[in-house]
Order: sequence, then C-alpha cells, then structure tokens
Amino acid sequence: MHKLPFYKYRPFTAITLPDRQWPSRVIEQAPLWCSVDLRDGNQALVVPMTLAQKLELFNLLVKVGFKQIEVGFPSAAEVEFNFLRTLVEENRIPEDVTIQVLTQAREHLIRRTFESVRGAKQAIIHLYNPTSELQRRVVFKKSKPEIIEIAAQATQLIKELASTMPETKITLEYSPESFSGTEVDFAVEICEAVIDVWKPTPDNKIILNLPETVQLCTPNTYADQIEWFCRRLKQRDLAIVSLHTHNDRGTGVASTELGMMAGAERVEGTLLGNGERTGNVDLVTVALNLYTQGIDPNLDLSNIDEIVDVVERCTNITTHIRHPYVGELVFTAFSGSHQDAISKGMAHYTQSQSEIWEVPYLPMDPTDIGRTYESIIRVNSQSGKGGIAYLLDQEFGFQLPKPMQPEFGQIIQRIADHTGKELKPAEIWHAFFNEYIDAISPLKLQKFRISESSEDEQVTCDAEISIDGNCREITGRGNGPIDALAKALQNELGIAFELTAYYEHALSRSTDAKAAAYIQVRHKGTFAFGVGVDPNISLASGKALLSALNRSLRQDH
Ligand code: KIV
Ligand code: ZN
Repeated sequence: MHKLPFYKYRPFTAITLPDRQWPSRVIEQAPLWCSVDLRDGNQALVVPMTLAQKLELFNLLVKVGFKQIEVGFPSAAEVEFNFLRTLVEENRIPEDVTIQVLTQAREHLIRRTFESVRGAKQAIIHLYNPTSELQRRVVFKKSKPEIIEIAAQATQLIKELASTMPETKITLEYSPESFSGTEVDFAVEICEAVIDVWKPTPDNKIILNLPETVQLCTPNTYADQIEWFCRRLKQRDLAIVSLHTHNDRGTGVASTELGMMAGAERVEGTLLGNGERTGNVDLVTVALNLYTQGIDPNLDLSNIDEIVDVVERCTNITTHIRHPYVGELVFTAFSGSHQDAISKGMAHYTQSQSEIWEVPYLPMDPTDIGRTYESIIRVNSQSGKGGIAYLLDQEFGFQLPKPMQPEFGQIIQRIADHTGKELKPAEIWHAFFNEYIDAISPLKLQKFRISESSEDEQVTCDAEISIDGNCREITGRGNGPIDALAKALQNELGIAFELTAYYEHALSRSTDAKAAAYIQVRHKGTFAFGVGVDPNISLASGKALLSALNRSLRQDH
C-alpha cells in the first residue's frame, strides 16, 4: 500500500478551556444573519457576477429576509463599486436592510469604500487584516504590535470618515482574518485595540467577526476558540460576536452551530454554500437545521426551488442532488424498508392530524419549503411493495389491499430488474393497468344484471360473458352480487375456484365518482388478485372477479 506523506502535517493545538460551557448549551433562537453571497461568494466564482446577476441575487436576498447583506468589495473592482452606486442611487435598498462593504486596512481603499456608500441610510464597513501566526510570519513578516497598529490606524481613519458622513449610520465590523489560525489571546488583544479606537456604544455596537477563514481543526476546537474569546473580551456587551466559517474540512455547518452554542450571535455565509475553495457555510442548511428543531429561522425559505434557481443562474454552479434540504434526491427513498417506513409514517401523520412532524427518514416536511410529496418515494430494483403501493395511492388513488401488495410488488420488481432503470409513476400505473384492470380475456363481462328477492334475501345475477369472443348467458343465486356471479361462473362454466378476499373503495381522484374493487380467488391451489373499476360498485366487483380469474387462468397455461 502506498502511504500518503502524513508526516507533512501537524495536529492543531487544542485550546485549554477545561470548564467550557458550550457543550451543554442549546440553540434557542436564530442568529442575526448576514449574507456574503455578493462578496465572498462572488470573489470565488470562475466568472464573477455581472451587474444584472448581482441585482437579481440582491433582490432574492432581500426577499428571503436578510437584513444585513455584504454587497461587495467596492474598492477592489469597478463593477463592485458601480453595483453599490446602482443600489444607492436607484433606491434599491429597503429601509430595514443594511448593506455591508468589505475593505482592507489600507488608506486609499478605505476612502474609496466610503465613496461607494455615500447616500446610503446605513452601512456596515467591514474592515479586515490577517492575524494568524502563519500570515504574520510568512506573508507580512510583521510582529504582533505591527499587525495591531494596522488595524488600529484603519479603524481611526474609518472613524474620521464616518464623522464626515452623518447622514449614513456607520457600523464597524472588524475581522481578525484567519482567526482560526490566530492565537486566541492575540485575537482578543487586537479586537480590544480596535474597540479602544472605535469606542462602540450599546446603541452602536461593534461587530467582531471571527472567521474560520480556513478550517484547521475539528468544530469543537473552533467552538472553544469562540467561547474563549467571548469570555475574555472585556467589552463583550458592546460587541456582536459574529461567525464566518468556510468548509475546508466539510464542517462549516457544524462549526457554525457549535460557534453559536459558544456564544456568537451573528452568522455570515451564503445561500447553498458558494464561496472560496470549498465554500462558505451554507445558510440554508443552518437555517433549516434550526427550523427542524422548532426554531423560527427568521428567513423565508418557503420557495426553495426559486432560491436554487436564482443562485444557480447567478453563480453558474449547479446544486448537488444530495445537497442538504435542497438537492433533488434529499427527500427521496428508493430502498424498500425506507419506503415502507415512510409510507406508514405518512399515513400516521395524516390520520393522527398531529401538528408535530414525525415521519421516519424524513427529518422535515418537504412541502414546508415548497417541495411536493411526489418525489418522496421513487421506484427502482431496490424498492419494495410498501413504496409501490404508496405511489399508486398518492398518484392515482388506488389503495392496494395489504395482502395484494407483495403480488404487485413482485411484478414491478421484475420490470425494474429487467430494465435496470427507475420506474416513473406513469410506468407503474401502466403495469398495474395492464396486469389487472385490462385483464379481460379469456373472460369478459358483457352484461351484468342483479335482481333481489324480498323472500329469502338472496340475489340473482344474470350475466353475459364472452369467452374468447363467444357469448354465454349465465345465471346464479347467492347472498350478494359477487356471490351470485361466482356461483354462475362455478356452476355454468364449471370453473372451480374459491373467493378468498374482497376489498373496495371510492376512487377519490376520479371526477366521475368511480369505485375500485379488489378480489382474490384461489384456483387450482394458487391465489390471484383482480381489480375492477366502474361507477357502479357491483359492476366494479364483477370486473374484479373476472380479472382475478383471467389472471389465474393465464397462469394455468
Ligand atoms: O474568510 C474570511 O476570513 C473572510 C474575511 C474577509 C472575513 O472572508
Ligand atoms: Zn470568507
């Protein structure tokens, strides 16, 4: 076996926090959300968004309910600057939405950033400089005090420029970028230096954004970093602690959730997780994770397909079929045992009329986010009778009796094995129709008349049956229409069979109020079901009986 050079890597140093509190905390409310789709998301695209795409995405973010939206890095590119000016000059920013703009800690970039927000009612100026040990040593070759000086000077300039723009309420967000690789005591030190210059107040708190710029360790360690930071920061009550996780280790959502438990109250991320490298944390997942714990996410995700559509169009990135909550297959079961449990769970949920969603294998009701139940169960060679029966009921209103389900399940299984493909509902319906409803030879019911006698409560049935095209009139008496028809078939046509099961129901989907009947017969030692459909229930039953006989006669040959 070829061994990977694991010795190139070092384990991350854990945080010493033996009395950590976050593991026993429970998230009880949604955080303050900030979308960074138009900045971090856009920066990571092969082809950055056009003005039109940015506007479309901005409108979606507003519609979804984001109150803080990072709209770009206006000092970095002309199109970013122009987008911001379009938003301000065309009055496209709703009163209750605050735009956020990113800037590096460099004078000319900060000045340009202020030009870009001129005229906005409120804005968050998001200042960052990298603080990690690696960046200080390798990229900037600067000492800790020098790195602090960069942040403090930039803050001072922002403060001065903000005072020249009284018509815009400026909030400062400071990110010790690469926080995840920064010594926690240094992160506190630099943030306190920024606070000392900015002087936040309870009415105008500073946002301290602690990015997991690159994921370097397990999410519990990030949570330790956040709790450590929150506990040591002197002016904690004047700061909103914010999370900004990426997904290098595939744990962006976990880091965010544990970070909230550790004391953060604000979360930055993107819809569906676009962003640098493996992306930013997916806010849809975080929000729906809260939702499925009974917490109002404060975001309108009721039309998830629209969100996917717009994000895909603007980013040119397609959504994976397994993407949490939104992927094409995430509410779908193919496996028989899962389908069986889901169909029982769905029946229980509907019948109990409970307000609480409890369906095995489905952590949430797909209709809450605008998906339908159609895709819950899909059929291929892995599928089982329960799922097939569920589909036939949901899509076509046929409630297969339980003892009939294995028989039809095997028929579908054979087709799926043979084709090696998924069977769509229409194909399942065709198989059902051909096998049962259209089983009209050799025996076909041409006429069927029932008369009741008041004397002995028996009924007489007069039927015309065509046998391989030749008509025969038969008569029988019994204690009901089906018993009478069975007697006629047994006595006059000499078919030896026994009626073993009978079921019927109205077809709710049918506009002309049809009934479906299911009859099982035993003929020459084997059992077979038949199905009949007709507005007249006696006729539906008669057809079902002949369907069962035809199927068993065919098996005979
Ligand atoms: O990932 C990051 O650290 C960033 C900062 C600019 C907040 O995007
Ligand atoms: Zn980022």
